[in-house]
Amino acid sequence: MEVALVLHMNKGSGESSYAKNSTLQSKIMCLGKAAMEEGILKILKKSSIIPESMGIADLGCSTGPNSLAAMTEIVKVIEGRCCSLGRPSPELRLFLNDLFDNDFNNIFATLPTFYNRIRQHNKAPCYISAVPGSFYGRLFPTNSLHFVHSSSSLHWLSQVPKGLQSEERRMLINKGKIYLSKSSPQCIVNAYLEQFQNDFSLFLSSRAEELVSGGRMVLSFMGRTSSDPTADESCYYQWEFLGTALMAMVSEGLIEEEKVDSFNAPYYAPCPDELRNVIEKEGSFILDDVEAFPMEWDGGAVDHQQYTTVAELSRARGQRVTKTIRAVVESMLEAHFGTHIMDDLFKRYQDIVADYLSNASTKYINLVISLRKKETRGIMPEVIGYLKNILTLENYAFRK
Ligand SMILES: C[S@@+](CC[C@H](N)C(=O)[O-])C[C@H]1O[C@@H](n2cnc3c(N)ncnc32)[C@H](O)[C@@H]1O
Repeated sequence: MEVALVLHMNKGSGESSYAKNSTLQSKIMCLGKAAMEEGILKILKKSSIIPESMGIADLGCSTGPNSLAAMTEIVKVIEGRCCSLGRPSPELRLFLNDLFDNDFNNIFATLPTFYNRIRQHNKAPCYISAVPGSFYGRLFPTNSLHFVHSSSSLHWLSQVPKGLQSEERRMLINKGKIYLSKSSPQCIVNAYLEQFQNDFSLFLSSRAEELVSGGRMVLSFMGRTSSDPTADESCYYQWEFLGTALMAMVSEGLIEEEKVDSFNAPYYAPCPDELRNVIEKEGSFILDDVEAFPMEWDGGAVDHQQYTTVAELSRARGQRVTKTIRAVVESMLEAHFGTHIMDDLFKRYQDIVADYLSNASTKYINLVISLRKKETRGIMPEVIGYLKNILTLENYAFRK
């Protein structure tokens, strides 16, 4: 499976679209808001270092309202900061990145509303562009970005771990499962960890080239606090239950068993120590902060007061969770199993989730990390900013 070619959130704005079913991700994004604001304020900490032009990227922007909502917040913080320092705002270059098959048009259609919204806060010009491609590799010119934001995206790996791909191994070692399971042999656990380490390291080294010295990133994604990658909090059940639903369809002769054995999710929810190790080894960034936030499976979107019985509430929550998951994983499952089984598969999944939620209170863990690119040796950006200011003033005096 070529992840970069098959992974996309459900397109358009219909009932099963990501645009209509991404309130969980919107809540997750809000968890990173304080870190995002702090990161930007640190970039603009002195008036002498406010750049003329700022490059800002949202990586894994997908479709729907979330990415532009994040950009609106970022623009507001920059404008507020410049205003309080009595400096003109920099021109803003905003980049929306996602994989090639992403529904960028859905976002473009809402740009007029976005421009109207930010015009209330921002006086300086703002240029928006889409940048299709994988964030596991270079996307932007050298030293062109000041701030990178990404939410609910970095838990996707660039590919299914190599160790699981070979024909005879996958048949033997991950039978009946589509992700790490509590009974997975150590070699599968290692293969997932190694893929995550390689991917995240490549992500960091690519961004290190693109960010200016002292540039910052705030990244939020599914993770875990436990060192066990199959801990309940690591979104483990999301895949386990999809596997259970698929295997039920196998037993009824609706899918070939080989199809399930040969599918493995390109996903990994790391713990803080795994992140720290990669960041230290790669060496371009300083990890300023890591925070872990628990999140209800339904993002708290189902109002418990509306339901009189546990069964009704669980059904409503099962439905909500299924819509959210379907909008995210359907493209990948369709590419492997075919469109014809999707309704049946997600109906079964919904029942399994509802049953589970009737007597469990497992939460997802979302990690928010703040990173700063190490300053390069030589003339510090503060000094360059100071010199630029003097030159501008002298120029001005000379012209007068
Ligand atoms: C769940 S969506 C999150 C979208 C948005 N950030 C939000 O919070 O609503 C994850 C997005 O990450 C994108 N993605 C996954 N791997 C990627 C990669 N290697 N490069 C760029 N985008 C990627 C997916 O295509 C998807 O649109």
